[in-house]
Amino acid sequence: MCGIVARIGRGNATETLLSSLESLEYRGYDSAGIAVQNGSGVKVHKCSGEVSDLKSSLDHEPHGNMGIGHTRWSTHGPPTDENAHPHTDSAGDVAVVHNGVIENYDELKAELQENGHEFESDTDTEVIPHLIDEYRSETDDTETAVRRAVDTLEGSYAIAAIVDGEEAVYAVRKGSPLVLGLGADEWYLASDVPAFLDHTDEVIYLEDGDVVVLEPDSYRLTDAEGTPVERSVETVDWDPEDAGKGEYDHYMLKEIHNQPSSLANTIDGRVDDGEISLEEFPPGTFADVDTVQFVACGTSYHAALYGSQLLRSAGVRTDVIRASEYETATGPVDENTLVVAVTQSGETADTLDAVRKGADRGGRTLAVTNVVGSTIARESDDALYIRAGPEVGVAATKTFSSQAVTLALLTQRLAEDVPEASPPGDQAEMLETLADLPAHVETILESTHAEELAREYLGSESYFFIGSGLGHPVSLEGALKFKEITYEHAEGFAAGQLKHGPLALVTEESPIFAICTGNADGKTKTNAIEAQSRGAPIIAVGSADNPIADVAETTLEIPDTHPVWAGLLANVQLQLVSYHAADLLERPIDKPRNLAKSVTVE
Ligand code: G6P
Repeated sequence: MCGIVARIGRGNATETLLSSLESLEYRGYDSAGIAVQNGSGVKVHKCSGEVSDLKSSLDHEPHGNMGIGHTRWSTHGPPTDENAHPHTDSAGDVAVVHNGVIENYDELKAELQENGHEFESDTDTEVIPHLIDEYRSETDDTETAVRRAVDTLEGSYAIAAIVDGEEAVYAVRKGSPLVLGLGADEWYLASDVPAFLDHTDEVIYLEDGDVVVLEPDSYRLTDAEGTPVERSVETVDWDPEDAGKGEYDHYMLKEIHNQPSSLANTIDGRVDDGEISLEEFPPGTFADVDTVQFVACGTSYHAALYGSQLLRSAGVRTDVIRASEYETATGPVDENTLVVAVTQSGETADTLDAVRKGADRGGRTLAVTNVVGSTIARESDDALYIRAGPEVGVAATKTFSSQAVTLALLTQRLAEDVPEASPPGDQAEMLETLADLPAHVETILESTHAEELAREYLGSESYFFIGSGLGHPVSLEGALKFKEITYEHAEGFAAGQLKHGPLALVTEESPIFAICTGNADGKTKTNAIEAQSRGAPIIAVGSADNPIADVAETTLEIPDTHPVWAGLLANVQLQLVSYHAADLLERPIDKPRNLAKSVTVE
């Protein structure tokens, strides 16, 4: 998983390439590099570390009106200068950046070495410039050489290449995202839209097999066979400011604070006069569904757990499967099975693989995602967008809230459509209170004492999160967030499971966050008290009158609301605790070690 960019037009490309790469650092930050054409050859600048390291390693601004760039999350070979992209052929005439995995690179490399090509890195990518070079020596036409090169590749790729002496960028997509941005007098290519949102909101989402040739005044789009193709130009409705850090120290904090507005966007127009109005899915859409299978990873898996509980309580047969385990964990699938892939990015390889397997077995597929034009949205039978706006911090925050709300709304539609299921009796109240959710988040952001609490418990041995019912997925998400960005030991449990093992870890040095949603809180209280009697400090997370408040050290308070939404508010408090603990520990909050925002390898 990596981010690639390219730009061609008038004026110097370097600054644009570097700032585009910064917006893609959520995809990886092990190394960064650019290559520009400046009339005297292709110049490559690259190093291990972040884009800021690359910038400070440049003693002058490399000049050229066109170039390519890369930010890396290592798969093949450690994060060294040599393994940083762009990679070139032996003469340095062809430079390539790549996102994806070339599965047959070993054999290709051996063949190329026999033909005299010299390699400098451990990466799978390096075979690509050598292949292009090899085929260029057999044909004068670089586009043909690029096509022949990618024909030999097995695996997934989004590739951009430049060649010495040619005012052109060549790019190909198969299995990894690539978007073309159409500026006033310049063209962009990137793994994701935020890379060029400052310059244009007109985009073309490329399809698998597409080959693009960008020249300063024109672009050409053809399919794998070389036939010209028309792809629709779409306008992205993300505000460029959404993709920046604004006044905040970290994207994560900005995105936590963005939740009143992102949630309002998620909800907008979807509840009409006490009825669900999912524009894409009118009543009856799911009349032939009898089982729902959720597949997801990480935070999205926790949102899927949230949705699945709601669906089960409406009487719909539901499974939640960690996408990486789909092969072995799935039950029977047929045309009455709805496979719902929950994925913020729409690019997570494990989730894509699971949904493809579900489709192969005859299931109907639905993507619940944030990214329009993502691979999952295009491959699934249908897509339902969570409309959270761009999320850059590696630790997912606002997208969890928007996923959970979207799934709650989807649940209502499914419960109305699926034979023998029925929406819960208090549906009207639930939908009515949803409108207040953005304002409730605002109240929390204004009144929270999460920072003080994070400071008080800093340096503890472990941090535990417990909850029952809808509090359970929140406990898992609270712990995941905490460990991701603080690097401290944190675990989430169904409250009743604490005594079946984890209690052995409980000491006065292990604060326990007990999540109360107003439903199934009895178990959470009993188990919190058991832990307290072993010395653990208890922090209640719930409304002012939550049942644990009287025994807890303190309460992280949430406004009164319907139990379905209370868990999401509790989660906002926990996001803030994690953020402040990580900040006090001076962790690189937006770029936690070893992680990437979406993982496009299995
Ligand atoms: C990675 C990220 C997690 C994310 C998960 C699923 O592991 O580090 O934060 O929840 O991928 O990503 P998705 O884009 O599928 O929601």
